[in-house]
Amino acid sequence: MPTRPETASPAVVETAGLEVHYQLQGGALSRLLGLRSRTVKAVDGVDLQLRRGEVLGVVGESGSGKTTLGRAMLGLAPTTAGSITYHGSDGAAVVSDMKGKALRRLRTDVQMVFQDPGAALNPTMTIEQAVGHPLKIHGLASGEELTRRVHETLEKVGLAPVERFADKYPRDLSGGQKQRAVIARAIVMGPEVLVADEPVSMLDMSVRAKILQLMLDLKDELGLTYVYITHDLASAKYFCDRVAIMYLGRVVEVGPTEEIFANPKHPYTKALLGAIPDVDPERQVARDLPRGEIPDAALPPLGCSFHPRCPVAREECGWESRDLRPLLETHWTHTDGDAADFEAERAVVGDLDSFDTPSSTVTVGRDHEQVSALLDRIRAEDPDEPFWTGVARAEADPSGGTRLTFHEPVDPRLRRSGGVDVACVRYGEDPQ
Ligand SMILES: Nc1ncnc2c1ncn2[C@@H]1O[C@H](COP(=O)(O)OP(=O)(O)O)[C@@H](O)[C@H]1O
Ligand code: SF4
Ligand SMILES: [Mg+2]
Repeated sequence: MPTRPETASPAVVETAGLEVHYQLQGGALSRLLGLRSRTVKAVDGVDLQLRRGEVLGVVGESGSGKTTLGRAMLGLAPTTAGSITYHGSDGAAVVSDMKGKALRRLRTDVQMVFQDPGAALNPTMTIEQAVGHPLKIHGLASGEELTRRVHETLEKVGLAPVERFADKYPRDLSGGQKQRAVIARAIVMGPEVLVADEPVSMLDMSVRAKILQLMLDLKDELGLTYVYITHDLASAKYFCDRVAIMYLGRVVEVGPTEEIFANPKHPYTKALLGAIPDVDPERQVARDLPRGEIPDAALPPLGCSFHPRCPVAREECGWESRDLRPLLETHWTHTDGDAADFEAERAVVGDLDSFDTPSSTVTVGRDHEQVSALLDRIRAEDPDEPFWTGVARAEADPSGGTRLTFHEPVDPRLRRSGGVDVACVRYGEDPQ
């Protein structure tokens, strides 16, 4: 099990309101058509502290911004707002301001271990050359000293006896052995922090625990601090001291691993925990998260970005025009196959595409009476559907249809609640 650092350990890396937004330029055709360029909010306002000596898990589904956050810590993704501060032995400095010597220092102090060890290793270098490469290019060792340090490191990661592995090429090694070589290359320069991005997800089940155990042993031996990025909660539970749950570029819950697993608060954390595959290997089928896919990070939902999937969303959670589409589609999939009914209802609703521009008000169809009757039927099918709490008013629109006005959206921010920080309107700040 991981060692538990003092809660008051000083931060080694700190992000404050960190944003990494990517401007996507459309192709020539979209420019010709005057389409706006889109912004992908890969990381969208993250406040995190990585404490010296801990393993901090960053957990979330694909596309939630985990890799971008990890890369930003190494200065490999552009900070578009907010900051990342690195507290190194030379004092504190903001990563995006670093140049020259400070940047070189960061690149030795903070190392990344990638998901695919095959792609991370140069196929034309022997393992000895690959692990020695960073020492060589930083001019930190040469000749016998270089060989000695490389061999020592290979032994540390379990690629021993060293003579068996030093002259091998990546293609001669198994996945687990390659990842050991990647870890050796990351620790050879004596870093402070390792950002491990899904380091075992591409390895065989049988070697995953061994690689994670190796990382824990190295952490103790070398006094390292880890960021462990994963979509796999089971490994985070085993490996991490604290866990930050990410959803669409935001941290939605962060706290001690035990607390998060024993008493998850955010509905997304609860859903993720519910989706952990059964421990019985015969039944290892991950259950789906409720209500659909992770939305597009270029056009995130209004209010709380989890609201379209949240089973307990409330009136202020950010209901909007786009939420009508899944509501209608669910209704039509559940309607028992009468094509004439479907065609008639489809005609009452009109243009579905008009719902796709995010808006807190929307006009549906052209006949208020018919639209109201349809909405009443849908509501009767599932009166507990949270969507209905979001509708503040449904009234006749002068154009003939039904104008829906949704409640003012609230954008929940992290607040301290019972030992964790959670971003959900259901949790208020603990009294001081
Ligand atoms: N260089 C980039 N340019 C544009 N979009 C990017 C870039 N890198 C990541 N993204 C987008 O940012 C979001 C988060 O990606 P990523 O950090 O890789 O998430 P994760 O590691 O959690 O799967 C995704 O929507 C992804 O497509
Ligand atoms: S704020 Fe909380 S209750 Fe509302 S949608 Fe988000 S997670 Fe669900
Ligand atoms: Mg990733």
